[in-house]
Amino acid sequence: MYSYLWIKAFHLVFVVTWFAGLFYLPRLFVYHAMCDDTISEERFRIMERKLYYGIMMPSIVLTVGLGLWLVALRGHAWLAQTTWLHAKLAIVAALVAYHFYLGHLRKAFAADRNRHGHVFYRWLNEAPVLALVAVIVLAVVKPWSV
Ligand code: HEM
Repeated sequence: MYSYLWIKAFHLVFVVTWFAGLFYLPRLFVYHAMCDDTISEERFRIMERKLYYGIMMPSIVLTVGLGLWLVALRGHAWLAQTTWLHAKLAIVAALVAYHFYLGHLRKAFAADRNRHGHVFYRWLNEAPVLALVAVIVLAVVKPWSV
């Protein structure tokens, strides 16, 4: 019981740091796509690389790793009887895909091959908001639980 709550606490710590990056990296892409001087472009490249590899990569590994650990400890009943965890895992899979899509876009910026305008990145920035609301409601309210 004691260790379960510790694992859950750190699961949530890394959810927060992961989302800091999921929100901020596309925001950096908005400014990067609008900028046209070499010094600023180089500064954005450094900020994007450090955010992606320094914060987002460790955070995704620890969020998913600790989440799977929680499932291993107490998830059998949820997986067998209820659907909130299945729904949450489906949305988390979409978030993981979103994370790696941002990584792909970061590489394009790094190679000076960005093909999208700032409006595209503004819309892209909204996607994790919807996923965050859905996942938090599923994890906390646990709808359909018996
Ligand atoms: C593969 C990834 C993930 C797995 C396997 C996973 C699994 C779990 C499990 C089993 C719990 C414990 C539930 C409980 O004790 O009531 C939990 C708690 C929680 N998770 Fe995740 N999770 C994952 C990713 C995420 C993400 C990406 C978010 C946020 C966007 C998130 C938000 C939460 C919240 C808010 C709780 C606390 C629920 C509560 O105690 O009321 N999880 N997670």
